Amino acid sequence: MAVTLELRVPVAILTLDNPGKLNALSIEILDELDAHLDTIESDEGVRAVVITGAGEKAFAAGADIGHMLQATVDEARAYAERGHELFARIERFAKPVIAAINGFALGGGCELVLACDIRLASDNARLGQPEVNLGIFPGWGGTQRLPRLTSPGFAKELIFTGRHVTADEAKAAGLVNHVYPQAELLDRAVAMGEEIAKKSPLAVSAAKGLVNQALAGDYRDALARELTAFGDAFASEDQREGMAAFFEKREPRFTGR
Ligand code: COA
Repeated sequence: MAVTLELRVPVAILTLDNPGKLNALSIEILDELDAHLDTIESDEGVRAVVITGAGEKAFAAGADIGHMLQATVDEARAYAERGHELFARIERFAKPVIAAINGFALGGGCELVLACDIRLASDNARLGQPEVNLGIFPGWGGTQRLPRLTSPGFAKELIFTGRHVTADEAKAAGLVNHVYPQAELLDRAVAMGEEIAKKSPLAVSAAKGLVNQALAGDYRDALARELTAFGDAFASEDQREGMAAFFEKREPRFTGR
């Protein structure tokens, strides 16, 4: 087992677990992540997901360099496609996904956190896109997601120099949302998942899709989609419950209907 799943309610925890290779994203890890997402998807009690790395040193130190060492063009493309499919699935996953970055998040590890919705880092985390040191460049979405999340200038600096940035520098650039002492990181990530889990899953999921659209294509189309989806939200019981609870000064009881 290279990825462990703790199917806790309401926040499931996925842990990349191949510390000998600093949790490098082998095909096995990608496949296991995918399979665990199937389980999480079909469990109605789970309303948010945290992804982290085993050990105190790495979230994930990249794609598996051993796997790429002798790769042909076709094999490299197939490996790139595997990462693209999985990361797109995470990006579109109906439940919010929080990255708890507990150490190195480099190369493909950084691209995995870019595909998550929210990034929290431990104070010893180091992030970067060091592929240029290997004669390649980010191939799992990093060239597209990093500039959208941060800025084109910051993304180019990271990708062109391959340098690692500290958690604080990543936060200043918008690459991570918050930085915590390592001992607190997982609890903080789960607490954020629990906070989100109190809200209507319909509303959170719709908002996730809309925010993704804001960055995906023409923003005027996305504004039009927001307008339509906002109206549609008023067909839900959760909307009525949320607003009734506000005026009744009580906690809402969201059901996802
Ligand atoms: N793929 C495969 N194996 C990896 C790996 C990766 N991306 N990253 C680290 N490992 C392995 C190392 O080969 C080493 O294995 P060994 O013990 O059998 O020699 C083990 O993990 C520990 O790594 P090591 O380099 O000895 O640790 P370090 O503390 O000296 O350095 C890093 C840590 C993260 C700075 C360094 O491992 C590194 O630069 N990794 C590659 C990062 C990268 O280029 N990622 C992009 C890949 S596309």
